[in-house]
Amino acid sequence: MKKTITKIVSLVLVACMGVAFAACSGSGSDENNTDASEAGSFTTVEEGKLIMATNAYFPPYEFYEGDAISGIDVEIAEAVADKLGLELVIVDIEFDSIIAGVQTNKYDIGCAGMTVTEERLQSVNFTTPYATGIQSIIVAEGSPITDIDSLIDGDYVVGVQQGTTGDIYMTDDIGDDRIERYNKGADAVLALTNGQIDAVCIDNQPAQAFVAANEGLTILDTPYTEEDYAMCLNKENEDLLNAINDALAELTEDGTIDAIIEKYIPSEG
Ligand code: ARG
Repeated sequence: MKKTITKIVSLVLVACMGVAFAACSGSGSDENNTDASEAGSFTTVEEGKLIMATNAYFPPYEFYEGDAISGIDVEIAEAVADKLGLELVIVDIEFDSIIAGVQTNKYDIGCAGMTVTEERLQSVNFTTPYATGIQSIIVAEGSPITDIDSLIDGDYVVGVQQGTTGDIYMTDDIGDDRIERYNKGADAVLALTNGQIDAVCIDNQPAQAFVAANEGLTILDTPYTEEDYAMCLNKENEDLLNAINDALAELTEDGTIDAIIEKYIPSEG
């Protein structure tokens, strides 16, 4: 009996080594396929470019101004790309597809007011955080929902953007049945203004932008913890992660990041 177990264990070990070896040589040849950027000792999906995946309905981090996408994330990514000698290319996709696209090397970075979570860290690397946010609840003015408890205790329906931390927290707290998931935060807000749902759970800064842009809405604070926003990258691309972290450190040091955030979120006083 013991022998069989030893045998199985060693077989499994050999199999694992085989897999590890295949994985190593696999990723090695993969990297040769991606163009080495001339700008430093890192590789990007396309030579000379930094391809950023975002979901551009999340003001003031990313939003459309005419045909162009602007916002805090865009300006920070532009400043980083500049430092690395790369051209920034922005791709607007569903928030829920960003991590998979980064994992499969379609995009170099996901930059989308994305919260660093333990679960996401299983799939991607995150840069040093460059901003923070907290989940807020938007309700109609005069709503009987006055705080998170009245929301949880009632039978209200809450709109969220699919796959966001708002989705995760609300699903945990009130259960799947009372959640409506939307591809865009803006669609959730539209459903609220149309009276189709009772509340929207979304990060505080977009919440303020949506409330400012729509009559008759108001924001409730929540007891959720503050979230760190960072860019996500493919786990294999540590060189690019280090290069971006170096750039972010310089941009923090010289006040560029603060200035970009202050431009979109002026501090009071
Ligand atoms: N911070 C939240 C999260 O990471 C929401 C981010 C949504 N971002 C966006 N660009 N739509 O889950």
